[in-house]
Amino acid sequence: MVIKDAKFITSNTRADLCPQTDLPEYAFIGRSNVGKSSLINMLTNRLKLAKTSSFPGKTQLINHFLINENWYLVDLPGYGWAKVSKESREAWRKMILYYLKNRQNLACVFVLIDSRLPPQKPDLDFMELLGTMGVPFVIIFTKTDKQSGTKTDMNIALYMKTLKETWEELPMYMKSSSTSKEGREEILQFISDVNQRYQEERQG
Ligand code: GTP
Ligand code: MG
Repeated sequence: MVIKDAKFITSNTRADLCPQTDLPEYAFIGRSNVGKSSLINMLTNRLKLAKTSSFPGKTQLINHFLINENWYLVDLPGYGWAKVSKESREAWRKMILYYLKNRQNLACVFVLIDSRLPPQKPDLDFMELLGTMGVPFVIIFTKTDKQSGTKTDMNIALYMKTLKETWEELPMYMKSSSTSKEGREEILQFISDVNQRYQEERQG
């Protein structure tokens, strides 16, 4: 898929204030610093569309980006950042739960996981939550440029083994690097396929 156009639309704390639209959207979520905002910039080929930072906690709001006038990418604030107060964590949970429950046009959530790390409880818990809510998601293993391909694949195999303990059917996954652009074509192709299904369902 060619990205002809990508623009920032709004930042919100509440799903009901997000753009009113029937167009499908794809939300990026995962631990702070995992590379959500960087991946949005990589996919859209725009260096500074989504704000990134080497300090965790950069993205604090629900950010909508309209792509090709046809679908949305949504940058969400991350979780699992150690320095966050209990109150902020609760506020985050409320905001995200409300978003997931109420966003009718949410086509798929991308759960980002650092490809270098062993399975972590906050990520496993979050995927459980998505499963319980019936929200479709796929995993993206990020920052693959930071280690060898063999190491990445070994880590992913371990991750899948852990997921198998609780999931009957394993979620789909892809790999990405915002630096080397690994995964760009695959992720955009996936979005393109889901967009098409989404349209067919709406028309049918
Ligand atoms: P929050 O908004 O805090 O939740 O973080 P985020 O998940 O949006 O992370 P962000 O995209 O801001 O990236 C965090 C840091 O990781 C930045 O310093 C990025 O440059 C770096 N980074 C992100 N993706 C990659 C990647 O694929 N490869 C490498 N080498 N660095 C990356
Ligand atoms: Mg961010």
